Amino acid sequence: NKELLWQSRFSEPFDRGALLFSSSVHVDKKLYREDIRGSVAHVTMLAEEGIVSDRDAAQIIAGLGEIEVELSSGSLVPEWEDEDIHTVIENRLKEKIGAVAGKLHSGRSRNDQVATDTRLYMRRQIEELQGAISGLLKVLVEKAETHRDTIIFGYTHLQRAQPISAGHYYLAYFNMFLRDRDRLGDLMKRVNISPLGAAAFAGSTLPLNVKRSAELLGFDDLFANSIDAVSDRDTVIEFISACSVIMMHLSRFAEDLILWSSYEFGYLEISDAFATGSSIMPQKKNADIAELVRGKTGRVYGNLMAMLTIMKGLPLSYNRDMQEDKQPLFDSAETTLGSVEIFARLLEHTRLKEEKLAKLTNEDLSLATEIAEYLVRKQVPFRDAHRITGKIVTWSIASGVTLPNIPVEQFREFSEAIDEDIYPALKADASVNSKKSHGSCSFNSVAKQIVEARKKL
Ligand code: ARG
Repeated sequence: NKELLWQSRFSEPFDRGALLFSSSVHVDKKLYREDIRGSVAHVTMLAEEGIVSDRDAAQIIAGLGEIEVELSSGSLVPEWEDEDIHTVIENRLKEKIGAVAGKLHSGRSRNDQVATDTRLYMRRQIEELQGAISGLLKVLVEKAETHRDTIIFGYTHLQRAQPISAGHYYLAYFNMFLRDRDRLGDLMKRVNISPLGAAAFAGSTLPLNVKRSAELLGFDDLFANSIDAVSDRDTVIEFISACSVIMMHLSRFAEDLILWSSYEFGYLEISDAFATGSSIMPQKKNADIAELVRGKTGRVYGNLMAMLTIMKGLPLSYNRDMQEDKQPLFDSAETTLGSVEIFARLLEHTRLKEEKLAKLTNEDLSLATEIAEYLVRKQVPFRDAHRITGKIVTWSIASGVTLPNIPVEQFREFSEAIDEDIYPALKADASVNSKKSHGSCSFNSVAKQIVEARKKL
């Protein structure tokens, strides 16, 4: 058995099976950079406060630097017998510089150490995720610009509802992902707080300068209570929750792409570089990337539920249960980042079938609202207009004559208020552009929205 950090009071070696079961190094080895960074800050502070000598601190820092290189180059491979990444690093430091290595952990526990590493990890992930979302936002604004004048169906209840500018559709997602980016920014205020110096949970008798180690690590603030500092994971929950909302937005978007690229809808083409085929059915062209994003959303939700459940019922303060936070955290961060990045590229590789959409939207029953609003402009009360239009729709379906092709005499059977001037209203672009209200789907409104969106990129 290798040396563990806590065995001095025991007369028997730790059971191998129990060690294998409790070892987390296969997961938390991902934190080695954060762990070393935290240790360098801690020992720097210890030296400044005269708790360890400058000479010892310099030796420790040099050793940690070498270990970081060894770990990143793969010349040092963490072994499960080392229990966790903190043990890997401390044991290796001891091999390198001997007993002096033991001074690093003065006034520190793995409890505040791992909480610090986790916060440093989340801080980096938040920044990366915000960057990836910014990339997606850019693609969305570009799509909105390209398709400001493209008309698509807007849906409610997955039934064709009213024609809209495709730009308006893309900007709806722009707003959702913009809030997601902001949400991560809000979360950063609570994540970027140092727990280092809380020690096991009660603090230390040593004159630790916790403000200084927080500052060295670039934290904005410091824990207020040492129990709280080591024993909550609410920021992990909040982070995974923010990831879940991002994934939920991506998943809905993915669903539209999947439907729209199907033969039945046929509104959109995914370029071959982002489509997949079938090993048996030669004709297939599938939207697997979108489906995987949708599927991975389920995994991230699962991680959120896992974390909430892990924390539920834990007595204060630290409990080993909390070691289980890393897998859901890392998986959520990586899955969400990967999904946002690939989705932005997938979106760039989609093309709306403009001609087909123009033909469909100009013949469709979704122009019915235009008839109703036309009648309102002719002073027909809206409720009557709605009823009259309903009858026209029924007639159109029964006769197979599309709304713009109904002869005026036929229209007048339903209402004397209808004249030749109804036809200009029965065009998809006229429908879209007749919208006057704030933030609506007209080309003008979309153009204004694009200007505002560009400012937020
Ligand atoms: N690997 C542990 C974790 O991630 C480190 C803390 C161990 N502390 C303890 N009291 N056993 O939570």
